[in-house]
Amino acid sequence: MDHYCVMGHPIGHSKSPWIHARFAELTGQSLQYDKQLVPLDGFANAVQQFFAQGGRGCNVTAPFKFEAARLADHTSERAQLAQAANTLSFQDGTLRADNTDGAGLVNDIQGNAGFDLAGRRILLIGAGGASAGVLARLIETQPASITVANRTVEKAQSLVDRHATLGLLQKTELLAQALKGPGADFDVIINATTSSLGGDAVPVPASTLKPGALAYDMMYGPSAQGFMTWAKEHGAQPRDGLGMLVEQAAEAFLIWRGVRPPSQQVLSEMRATLA
Ligand code: ATR
Repeated sequence: MDHYCVMGHPIGHSKSPWIHARFAELTGQSLQYDKQLVPLDGFANAVQQFFAQGGRGCNVTAPFKFEAARLADHTSERAQLAQAANTLSFQDGTLRADNTDGAGLVNDIQGNAGFDLAGRRILLIGAGGASAGVLARLIETQPASITVANRTVEKAQSLVDRHATLGLLQKTELLAQALKGPGADFDVIINATTSSLGGDAVPVPASTLKPGALAYDMMYGPSAQGFMTWAKEHGAQPRDGLGMLVEQAAEAFLIWRGVRPPSQQVLSEMRATLA
């Protein structure tokens, strides 16, 4: 049986094994998918061992996404732009790195939520791995502009600079801003920070929200709750990152198995289970 896994630290709460098992069941694929807790200094070793033992593919979560992109023999264009990877595959002796987070986010927003991003003004909050992983795919939807706002503004600037050519190509204006003055009345705001994990409030003012704006948190469950409540209180449409989680997994499943799983069904099942 083909063997897959997700590596991270921590990894205990990962829903990826459940999602991939369900994808396999629904598409009639035979595979095993486990979670693996990897020591903070042991990622390269763990990957090498996993593939040496015949592993076929591996998802990568925090804090190893940057290392995963550097480790591979071949890195996809989107993972190169992100400088981060969440999907590793071993094919014909080559370790390949890809990043499906952007596709996951956009498929959830445009496909599942039915919110078209073309021509919109987007505020992307954060400039860490989560934000880097989605910026290229967001630009490809051809929004009017994307403002990347971050506590450390230099990181936002460097992320924007790396995507400048793609922005020009897609006619999307790219801006880097500090959290305090990111601009107002955005059609879409996306929270890609980890601020809620430290118990901190939403890191931008409510003036960033246009009435009816889509307010998306890449987290889900209790970690997204503060942001969702804040968005609702200020007249926005809140959405958590559960759909992104399922959709990024669906993209990885497609890379590995060549089959697109019924992600909307699995998302509905997860929402029902978590409710
Ligand atoms: P991830 O891989 O989940 O993106 P990360 O790379 O550590 O994690 O990035 C965390 C992001 O959340 C960064 O943008 C960080 O801002 P800095 O670059 O200034 O560190 C942001 N962040 C974390 N805690 C925050 C807080 N309390 N307020 C605002 N932004 C915060």
